[in-house]
Amino acid sequence: MKRVLLIIGGGIAAYKAPDLVRNLRAQGLAVRCLLTSAAEQFVSPLSLASVSGDKVYENLFDLTDEAEMGHIQLSRDADLILVAPATADLMAKAAQGIANDLASTTLLATDKPVMLAPAMNVRMWEHAATQRNLGQLKTDGLHFVGPEKGDMACGEFGFGRMSEPTEIAARAASLLDDDADSAPLKGKKVLVTAGPTHEPIDPVRYIANRSSGKQGYAIAEALAAMGAEVHLVSGPTALGDVQGVHMHRLETAEQMYDACHALLPLDIGVMTAAVADWRPELCADQKLKKTETGLPELTLRENRDILASLGGSKQKPSLLIGFAAETHNVEAFARDKLARKNCDWIVANNVALDSGIKGGVMGGDENAATLVRQNKTEAFGQMSKVETAKTLAQRIAAHFSAAEKS
Ligand code: CTP
Repeated sequence: MKRVLLIIGGGIAAYKAPDLVRNLRAQGLAVRCLLTSAAEQFVSPLSLASVSGDKVYENLFDLTDEAEMGHIQLSRDADLILVAPATADLMAKAAQGIANDLASTTLLATDKPVMLAPAMNVRMWEHAATQRNLGQLKTDGLHFVGPEKGDMACGEFGFGRMSEPTEIAARAASLLDDDADSAPLKGKKVLVTAGPTHEPIDPVRYIANRSSGKQGYAIAEALAAMGAEVHLVSGPTALGDVQGVHMHRLETAEQMYDACHALLPLDIGVMTAAVADWRPELCADQKLKKTETGLPELTLRENRDILASLGGSKQKPSLLIGFAAETHNVEAFARDKLARKNCDWIVANNVALDSGIKGGVMGGDENAATLVRQNKTEAFGQMSKVETAKTLAQRIAAHFSAAEKS
């Protein structure tokens, strides 16, 4: 049986807590309640103890409880921490990492998913500080249900009503279900390369390409969301770090080659980077001056192919995926690359200017990828790069689940 730790904050909606406990239990969940001291003004610990069938926790400094069960264990014992009602005060503490009572300490100590059902006056909800805290908590990966729009106990109307107990209980149950199914790549070590590389000519100039890194970053995020240990090896991009992913930022193709090989052994390699094919043979120590040298001659050397080197390695990842940018004959060229680089799948992008993709594939937010495998070709169709990433991640998860069953 899955266990929910219900943290009840001090707001008028706390009177719905016994009903929420009943609904959670009706979903087949075991419930343990933790009351803030303000919540005790709205709901009695005794009524919660009787509907939950468990002891109710109230005070951080209750030494007997600390001896029986410390706040760390209280938070770890649950599969989900649900905060309902989540007051503006509790949200602010959680967003800032403040831990000065049992509820806030438990929220800071947990390693389990946390869901909040906010309830407060509409002005408090709309206040810039609360909205800032909401943004921070979402970035930190906390889940939200509500608030709803409607009449409030204080006589005002707007967003701030706590969602109904039936709704909160259903969302909690579905989050716990997803959680079990949502980590199909747990235990898999994944390399994703992304972005362009910069190949220096002198301290201020370089050769580069128009890759934005968006597709690779989205893939890293989608695979991490499935529980994989993801290493994102990225050339220079304007994108921020991906939460929950190990970032390895570098500049040149040669640095990328070394960083990828240093990560072996790997279960999965997804090579989206637009690695520069060539680099200037020499990088000048000082800025080249046009007067001194006239027209400089750039002698280029070929960069080592990272994908092909992994494909030919004794430690080849069990699923190695390359990317191909094609303007025509998309599938035929992709198949040729599949064989040449000894990879398992190729994701081919049509980068022709007349491909119909808004903003173009390079740098844009959309893609129309085709997944080419040894004996199967699948067109994903035109969709956002985030959707493309999720679709590819699902195919990868399905591949491993089929392999593990056979
Ligand atoms: N790749 C790599 N290391 C390189 C060059 C390419 O890992 N030095 C990888 C890319 O990350 C991508 C695939 O190889 O997964 C693309 O191969 P590439 O031969 O560069 O294909 P295109 O860019 O499509 O160019 P072309 O059609 O000219 O071969």
